[in-house]
Amino acid sequence: MLEDSYGNKISTNSADAIASYNQGVHQFLGAEPNVEASFKAAISADPKFTLAHVGLAREMQLRGRSGGVKQSLNKAFETSKNLSAREQSHLSVSSLLLRGKSAEARAAVYEHVKEWPRDVLIAQMCTSVFGLIGFSGLPGREAEQLSFMTNLTPNYGDDWWCKAQLAFAQLEVGQLDEAGINIEEALLSNPNSAHSKHIRAHLYYENLQDEDGLSYLQRHWENYDPSGALYNHISWHVGLWSLETGNLEQMWNVLDKHISPDNSQGPPLNVLTDTAALLFRAELAGVEVTPERWRGLSAYAMTKFANPGLGFADFHAAITHARAGNIEALENIIANAKGPVSDLTKKVARAYLYMQGANWLSASELFTSVVREHARFGGSNAQRDLLDFSLAACLIHQGRTREAKTILAITRPRALQKDIISGLH
Ligand SMILES: [Fe+2]
Repeated sequence: MLEDSYGNKISTNSADAIASYNQGVHQFLGAEPNVEASFKAAISADPKFTLAHVGLAREMQLRGRSGGVKQSLNKAFETSKNLSAREQSHLSVSSLLLRGKSAEARAAVYEHVKEWPRDVLIAQMCTSVFGLIGFSGLPGREAEQLSFMTNLTPNYGDDWWCKAQLAFAQLEVGQLDEAGINIEEALLSNPNSAHSKHIRAHLYYENLQDEDGLSYLQRHWENYDPSGALYNHISWHVGLWSLETGNLEQMWNVLDKHISPDNSQGPPLNVLTDTAALLFRAELAGVEVTPERWRGLSAYAMTKFANPGLGFADFHAAITHARAGNIEALENIIANAKGPVSDLTKKVARAYLYMQGANWLSASELFTSVVREHARFGGSNAQRDLLDFSLAACLIHQGRTREAKTILAITRPRALQKDIISGLH
């Protein structure tokens, strides 16, 4: 029986199929371009290669192509006779994820990795800030993320993917030195992973090294194929640092050409959240944003995220609808937020409604009740700065600037050292 590059036995006799599959897995783990082509090449070499169909379905899900997910998952089940126990479990765990059964999928991943910890595409489901732990909505999910990665680590040796994901979990809880060692080792053994470069960028951000971070990421971003899964989000980091280092011309250029729905090839979740976050962070910094921009993004949010369910998307949509004056869509989120963070989503959406009406006191009360547990939304600290800065802005509007500084000194001290919230200094 042949093995994949992580030593898992695979039910195919085609060496070509395995080679293409390994390439697809490597590209998927590093957000490199051509994942779809590699899994399709594996399928073409062996049409009965179940896990290659699953891999393709995973890529389709990441890209928001639900028709493709269904088709590939059906193919995976059609070819699933005679699988090993590991492959059967791989298919059933993946099926839960691909059908949106997130809580069940998370529990199933935990069971699966006990027996097959090096089944990397299953372990990967519970990693990063958009994974099954990241979006679990559970209190303490950042500690859980670190615990999951720490338990996985002994099984992966010097593997670049594992070291990079461990680094991400570490830096999100403030273990910056440890994260630095692991991400540098990950980048040494695979310099091509966009995920690793992205994690390195987060370390620059948490270390308050904005200029260095911008020049580091810009070098890689300029050589990153726009069809790569992280291109949109890496562009966001470049755009955000452009804003925070005072290069507005570059910020608008990056936003319009590489992040906004008009031009981006990125996953819809990134297109919505990255565009909304950059526009609102610009406004919080005192930069004027035209209503047309917000209206365009509001229309996009209504197309791609019509039904509330994923809190991280919904709170960005709430900002967008509020700023676009699309109160009906905003009220829909307030009334119908669903999922494990719906309690927070409703409060935050209402807070943005209050902000829009210049009801700064009510908005700040709601933000105050949310910020201490906003990690439950998922996403990175850098992304959720939006909520901390929104609270600060509401306090500043009430003349409570000293209070805003005190809170930020505890939550996000980086905001005090930069001129990134209008009126704070
Ligand atoms: Fe990021």
